[in-house]
Amino acid sequence: MSALTDLSSFSTYPIVQAPMAGGASNPRLAAAVAGAGGLGFLAAGYKTSEAMYQEIRQLRDHTSQPFGVNLFMPQPGTVDPSAVEVYAEQLSGEAAWYATALGDPEAGSDDGYEAKVAILLEDPVPMVSFTFGCPERAVLEAFTKAGTYTVVTVTTPAEALAAQWAGADAVCVQGVEAGGHQGSHRDDPQLDGAGIGLLSLITQVREVVRLPIIAAGGLMRGEQITAVLAAGAGAAALGTAFLVCPESGAPALHKQALTDPVYARTELTRAFTGRPARGLVNRFIREHGRYAPAGYPQLHHLTLPVRRAAADLGDPQAMALWAGQGHRLARELSAGALVETLVAEMHAAEEARA
Ligand SMILES: Cc1cc2nc3c(=O)[nH]c(=O)nc-3n(C[C@H](O)[C@H](O)[C@H](O)COP(=O)(O)O)c2cc1C
Repeated sequence: MSALTDLSSFSTYPIVQAPMAGGASNPRLAAAVAGAGGLGFLAAGYKTSEAMYQEIRQLRDHTSQPFGVNLFMPQPGTVDPSAVEVYAEQLSGEAAWYATALGDPEAGSDDGYEAKVAILLEDPVPMVSFTFGCPERAVLEAFTKAGTYTVVTVTTPAEALAAQWAGADAVCVQGVEAGGHQGSHRDDPQLDGAGIGLLSLITQVREVVRLPIIAAGGLMRGEQITAVLAAGAGAAALGTAFLVCPESGAPALHKQALTDPVYARTELTRAFTGRPARGLVNRFIREHGRYAPAGYPQLHHLTLPVRRAAADLGDPQAMALWAGQGHRLARELSAGALVETLVAEMHAAEEARA
């Protein structure tokens, strides 16, 4: 495999389908995006290393275009077990209501990181991105040696500097508008409410690092992509916009909820996983979000059976309905048609400015 060294060489258009763990970004979605000239991404988070590798092989069967694989960084074991225990007690009514047991909070905190890295170094893919932290320099160097382009998600200028020092090829600048988890390198409750909006963050990151930028957070239309490119990004990553596509593996209830007027707003919450993630405000977030402690991934394991039981019952009120602030703008187009529409909107926006 010849190494791609420039962000623009990965796709015809500067449009990235953001990685979405939990089923949404599967090989079908990534292949459809790649086929339309965007950059598709697989999400290795919450999967075994074998399941990740199987998806990579499936995607290779569907496309010869470049693609990315996203990894969760292992979390430091600093979580207070008594806070997790108290939260478990507070959730006992949920478990009873959904006729399930709570999960084991100690079901693992490294997400199989080492095994996934080993597979990706053994059989390299074009791009690997990391969230929830920055890998050590040696790991990034090993990927570079293997011909893989490395991207680290950042939510502050300081994290961007850390990524540059460690040797990342690019940063994914994730604004506070973004759906799903904030990719902060450390979950610090003292910084709750300090999230930075995407346009401001791109500019702040550009002032401190020279790395190419993939911009993410709240982007749903071509005009917005044009705006972040004008602000200095090399590409734009869209999660929520691709979540509703028929190729996405997100549950139908999740897709429907994104444009359902019942859901008036999104919020960053630790209620489901113990790390701030943006989702549609439903009953679970309203009832438990205020006191949910920092405790990722312990709370993820703890609440998983409740979320699954709610999904099985067709009840979105206890599901994690991850969504970016732009969710109301979601369009139920096929992934290829969405890429085409975004490109047409970008051209129209550029012409209007000329
Ligand atoms: C359902 C869902 C799952 C996500 N899973 C991941 C993930 O596994 N890894 C990651 O780096 N980011 C993940 N994200 C964040 C996205 O990669 C991206 O930053 C975000 O979707 C951009 O904001 P937008 O949803 O407003 O477009 C997820 C987002 C959503 C909506």
